[in-house]
Amino acid sequence: MPTLKIPPGPRRLPLIGTLHRLIGKDGVHQTLRNLSETYGPAMLLHFGAQPVLVISSTEMAAEVLKTHDQKMCTRPYSKSTNRLSYNYKDIAFAPHNDHWRDMRKVMVSEFLGAKRMRLYNRVMENEMEDMVRSLSSMSSSRITVNLDDMLFNLVNDVVCKVAFGKTYRENTFNGKTMKEIVDESVVMLGGSFADIFPTFGWIFDRLSGWDRRLEKCVNDFDGFLEMILDDNREGKTNEHGNDFVSDCSDVLNRDEMKALMMNVYEGAFDTTAITIVWAMSEIVKNPRVMRKLQNEIRSYVGKQSKVRESDITKMAYLKMVVKETLRLHPPAGFLIGRECVSHCQIGGYDILPGTQVMVSTVGIGRDPKIWKESPTEFHPERFENIQVEFGGKHFEMIPFGGGRRACPGYNLAVSTAELTIANLLNVFNWETPDGGKNQDLDMREQGNWLIARKTPLCLVPIKHNSQD
Ligand code: HEM
Repeated sequence: MPTLKIPPGPRRLPLIGTLHRLIGKDGVHQTLRNLSETYGPAMLLHFGAQPVLVISSTEMAAEVLKTHDQKMCTRPYSKSTNRLSYNYKDIAFAPHNDHWRDMRKVMVSEFLGAKRMRLYNRVMENEMEDMVRSLSSMSSSRITVNLDDMLFNLVNDVVCKVAFGKTYRENTFNGKTMKEIVDESVVMLGGSFADIFPTFGWIFDRLSGWDRRLEKCVNDFDGFLEMILDDNREGKTNEHGNDFVSDCSDVLNRDEMKALMMNVYEGAFDTTAITIVWAMSEIVKNPRVMRKLQNEIRSYVGKQSKVRESDITKMAYLKMVVKETLRLHPPAGFLIGRECVSHCQIGGYDILPGTQVMVSTVGIGRDPKIWKESPTEFHPERFENIQVEFGGKHFEMIPFGGGRRACPGYNLAVSTAELTIANLLNVFNWETPDGGKNQDLDMREQGNWLIARKTPLCLVPIKHNSQD
């Protein structure tokens, strides 16, 4: 048998593998980027006994997501994904099998299909009107707005109304809001000792209280979702009959329904809100971009205070701004983990079955081989000459992944971001509070899987004079 060519990576220590190399003040996402600079775009790590391939270039990503997609499109098992997904009844964490395929079809046709999008557009337009009205009242007294909170609430309200018939933002279960429960579940999804030390890690999980914490989280999540389903059955929701849950109750059993609702909560809210917050940060930090974008938006909508979905199609620069945001600040720093099911070669290296694969969206969006002109700078005009679409077939930037497991919600996310940004900039100019310079806005990042701003984005809306 010929010798295997194993990808380069740091030296392994007994038992812990290369875990010691992940410890540092920078967070996992930045630490892995630093390590990739030393070991290259296909790097092999070991989390305890578990081999993990880390991919950080366009070329290697295309090999994983296109050439070998079939061998790399299943998801690894972990205790938390198993419990939170009702034993893999969902889409995002489920292994690649017929059930995953059926559930994905339901999501695409029932949640993301034309009928639901009509409801989505109606709900969005109403929410935009409310947002502009409330910002206008703040603007007269120069009140500082926390855009992180405002935009999370906006995305939550729109998606929840469409998916569940009501916003559920103020509701609690066991004293916790859904936001608190989702935040806790994201911590749990980070993994347990048993995931990396299968023979004895379960003892640590039990003794450290991790198992109990997971069960409490699953219980809270489940209780909240049950409450939504009960409201729905009893007709207590505003959009009753039009929302996703009402339409799917006959097609899916209760666990399948809850598993899909969990995917919507985990996948749609933070990601979309973080995208809009990063876009607003870059726009405010770059006055030239703000002016150019406002000129474009205002030239299409005139003195109207509301930008509609139908106006957006004409706004080429707005689309470039959103693309550039997703290139430079993909909200999910890594794709959801994959697992290799049979031997294949990536970049000429042998990858063995059972190897987990982490693909860095940030590394790829800033790959200097592809993005030759100042890859770490925000420059939307670069898309005048580069054709990149999000459907999962282009690999120059992959904020939504690619191949069979690519994000099915990308259209919804992009159009929500475009419409919200257009409405925020049509009526208002934005300034940093306390006389600070917009160009000095803090742009530090934070997070391991979701990469958000380190400090909340707080800005003052100033009503544009043509909108008085
Ligand atoms: C800016 C917003 C969003 C970003 C950045 C994002 C990003 C991602 C990424 C990176 C993946 C993993 C892809 C892979 O493994 O190749 C994913 C999967 C997924 N996303 Fe999104 N997403 C967003 C919005 C949404 C929305 C609005 C939905 C709503 C339905 C959604 C539903 C899903 C689902 C169900 C999966 C699992 C797909 C599968 O495993 O087959 N996402 N998303």
